[in-house]
Amino acid sequence: MHPVPRVFRRYLVFAAAIVFVAVCGLEGLKAWNGRVTPEKVAAGKILFEHQWRIADSLCGGGDGLGPVFNARSCAACHFQGGLGGSSGNEFNVTSFEVISEGERIQAGVVHASATSPREQERKSQVTAIFPKTVRRSIIQNTSTMSDCAPGRSQSTIRESIEIDDPVIFQELNSPALFGVGLIDELSNLSISLHGQKRFANVMASELTGDLSGNRLGIVNTVNRNIGKFGWKGQFSTLEEFVASACAMEIGLTNQLHAQQKPKQYEADPNAAMDMTREQLHDLVCFVRSIPRPVQILPKEPVGQFRAERGEAIFGQIGCTDCHVESLGGIEQIYSDFHLYNLEPIQPSVSQGGGYSDGEAEKQFEFDRSHPHPDQWQTPPLWGVADSAPYFHDGQSPTLRSAILRHQGQAKSSSKQFSKLSTYDQACLLAFLKTLRAPQFSAKSFPQP
Ligand code: HEC
Ligand code: HEC
Repeated sequence: MHPVPRVFRRYLVFAAAIVFVAVCGLEGLKAWNGRVTPEKVAAGKILFEHQWRIADSLCGGGDGLGPVFNARSCAACHFQGGLGGSSGNEFNVTSFEVISEGERIQAGVVHASATSPREQERKSQVTAIFPKTVRRSIIQNTSTMSDCAPGRSQSTIRESIEIDDPVIFQELNSPALFGVGLIDELSNLSISLHGQKRFANVMASELTGDLSGNRLGIVNTVNRNIGKFGWKGQFSTLEEFVASACAMEIGLTNQLHAQQKPKQYEADPNAAMDMTREQLHDLVCFVRSIPRPVQILPKEPVGQFRAERGEAIFGQIGCTDCHVESLGGIEQIYSDFHLYNLEPIQPSVSQGGGYSDGEAEKQFEFDRSHPHPDQWQTPPLWGVADSAPYFHDGQSPTLRSAILRHQGQAKSSSKQFSKLSTYDQACLLAFLKTLRAPQFSAKSFPQP
C-alpha cells in the first residue's frame, strides 16, 4: 500500500486530538482567584520552612507530622540555589505506578520515614499487594518435514512463560520551584498552540519523506486541563500540587488531600485536618511568589560571545523544539510542557504494559488518557545551571550527561550535539550556564 493515506489518517486523528485539547484549553484560562497579600506570603513562608512535629502546635488538634512522611519541611527538599530550589539525590522520593493491561490502576509513594517504626513502608509491601503474574501457555507448532520424509509432518510442543510485573518504581528528584507562579498562569491555549505549530512542522517534513527530526510529544490532560506540574505534568494547578505535597511529603491532611494510611498506599479518609483552608492558601501564596530564574551573562566579551553563540546553536540543533524559548508571554522558560520518551525504545518490553516498536509510536502520539511510565515532561531550563543533578531521577550529574541522555524521541538533537566541534559544544554548555536561580536579596520576600 502507498504510505500517504496511512500517514494522513494518523495526522487526522492527531489533529482532532489537538482541537479537543485546545477547546478544553479555554477552561484553563480561569485565573487564580486567591488574594495574594504580603502578609499571606510571609505567613506562607513560615509554613514552608516550618519543621513539622507530631501533634504540631500549628495543626490545631490534627496529628501533625506523618504517620508516614518523606521530610519534616518543604524547605528540606527545596533549597538548592536559594529557598524554593531543587535538591540532591539524597532527598529523592520513591514513587510507584501500577500498570495492568496498559491501564494505570494506582500510583503512590513509598515514604522514607514513619512516626512509628511499625508503620515504616517498604517497596516489598507494594510488590506484595500487586504481585507478578505468571502466564503459561502451550504452543504447538506443526511443520511438514518435506525434505527428509515427504508427506510426513512433525509437531513440536513449547511452553511459553510470560512474567508480568505490574509495579514500576521511580526515584524522583525534587525540581526547583522558582517562577512556578508564572507557570500557574500559563494557559492551555498557549501550550496547545505550540503543539499545533510543531505538529505542522513535523507533518511537513514527514510528507517529504524526512523522518530524521525530533518526534512529537503528548500533553497530560488532568480534569480537562493541561497538566503543568510534576515530572509527568500530573497536576494542572499549583494549589492542587501544594495540597498534595503537604499530604504526601509531610503527612498534613488538608481540604484537598488527606494524608496516607501507612503501608496501605491510599488516602486515609478518617484523618483529622492538620491545616486550615487559610494555611493552605498562605502556603500557595508563598510558593506562587518565589521569584523566577534569571539569565546572568558573563561580564567579559569573550564569555558573552560564547554564550550567545551557544544560544544560537541551541536553536539550530532543535533543542527549542521542546525547550521553547518563550511560551504564553513567559520569556526564557525553555519548555513546551509536553511529555516525551527519551530512553531508547525497547523492541519488546514485557514489564508494565510493554509495547513493540510500531506500537510505541502509536501510543506516544495518540494515548492522551495517561502517559506511559517512560514519558516525562520537558522541564523548563530556566535556572538549570543551579539545579543539578538532572532528569526525573537525578541520574544525570552534569549538563553534558543530561544532553547525551536524550535518546528516543529527542535523538535527533543529541546526535547533532555529538557532531558539533568541541568549541561549539562548550558554547552550548556556556549558554546553559547563564540560566541561573534568582539572585535572592533581603527584599526577595515580603516581611511580616
Ligand atoms: C522529600 C522531598 C520533598 C518535600 C519534603 C517536598 N517536596 Fe515538593 N517536590 C519533590 C519532588 C520529588 C517533586 C517532583 C514530584 C513529581 O513530579 O511527582 C516535587 C515537586 C513539587 C512541585 C511541582 C513543581 C513543578 O514545577 O513541577 C511543587 C509546587 C512542590 N513540590 C511544592 C512543595 C511544597 C509546598 C512542599 C511542602 C508542603 C514540598 N514540595 C515538599 C520533593 C519534595
Ligand atoms: C523531544 C523533546 C526534547 C528535545 C528536542 C530536547 N529535550 Fe531536553 N529534555 C526533554 C525532556 C522530556 C527532558 C526530561 C527527561 C526526563 O526527566 O526523563 C529533558 C531534559 C533536559 C535537561 C535536564 C533538565 C533538568 O532539569 O533535569 C537538559 C539540560 C536538557 N534537556 C537540555 C537539552 C538540550 C541542550 C537539547 C538540545 C541538544 C535538548 N534538551 C533537546 C525534552 C527534549
